[in-house]
Amino acid sequence: MKIVHIGAGGVIGRAVAAELGARHEVIAVNRNSGDFQVDIENPSSIARLFNQTGRFDALICTAGAVHFATLQEFSVEQYSIGLKSKLMGQVNLVRSGRKYLRDGGSFTLTSGPTNEDPIALGTSSAMVNGALEGFVRSAAIELQSDRRINLVSPTMLQESSALYGPFFVGTKPVATSDVVLAYVKSVEGRQTGCVYRVGWSRER
Ligand SMILES: NC(=O)c1ccc[n+]([C@@H]2O[C@H](COP(=O)([O-])OP(=O)(O)OC[C@H]3O[C@@H](n4cnc5c(N)ncnc54)[C@H](OP(=O)(O)O)[C@@H]3O)[C@@H](O)[C@H]2O)c1
Repeated sequence: MKIVHIGAGGVIGRAVAAELGARHEVIAVNRNSGDFQVDIENPSSIARLFNQTGRFDALICTAGAVHFATLQEFSVEQYSIGLKSKLMGQVNLVRSGRKYLRDGGSFTLTSGPTNEDPIALGTSSAMVNGALEGFVRSAAIELQSDRRINLVSPTMLQESSALYGPFFVGTKPVATSDVVLAYVKSVEGRQTGCVYRVGWSRER
């Protein structure tokens, strides 16, 4: 398979790209490095990327930022960071990438647990992750020609616990290898419209 992977140089991305790169052609895309560069916040940059990559069998996105702040502090501009990057960045990859995805191919996007398991400072993260779940379930019933879309929703990774631990109080970090499996299932399996929760569950 030819896989276009946005965010391939990040913490999640490196592990996923290493696993899938062993048996597929992975085109690594980041904001500043890789085979190609893109800014997912900019629809023209996304259109330029797909002109460069041409058609592909799978697209993975492990990129997207949100701002963390208290409800009292959050400004319109700070909320718009997550809306433009992690939410609409990934939505626009699907919107624009649809024309380049071969029949039978798949999109795999990335969210996180905060919409179901809220954390302090996490209102933007929660609303973006919740919106991504709705988008993926809904897009799955409209994609045609056997094309699929899934969402991976990992909790905090072990590798990221030094960075995110203070935000995710009392959360057991998940092994990166478990997170990688969800991306493998989405890309190499046949399911669609799924939210793969890795390292956490909805029951609390
Ligand atoms: N790490 C965790 O514990 C964890 C858990 C749950 C969910 N998540 C979610 O998973 C995603 C990836 O997390 P991560 O920890 O792997 O991130 P990371 O290590 O910071 O890597 C982010 C990757 O995305 C790229 N990127 C960032 N902004 C971009 C943009 N506007 N356009 C194109 N590429 C962009 C970066 O490229 P450059 O390096 O070139 O900037 C980098 O390759 C995030 O949405 C995060 O919220 C992470």
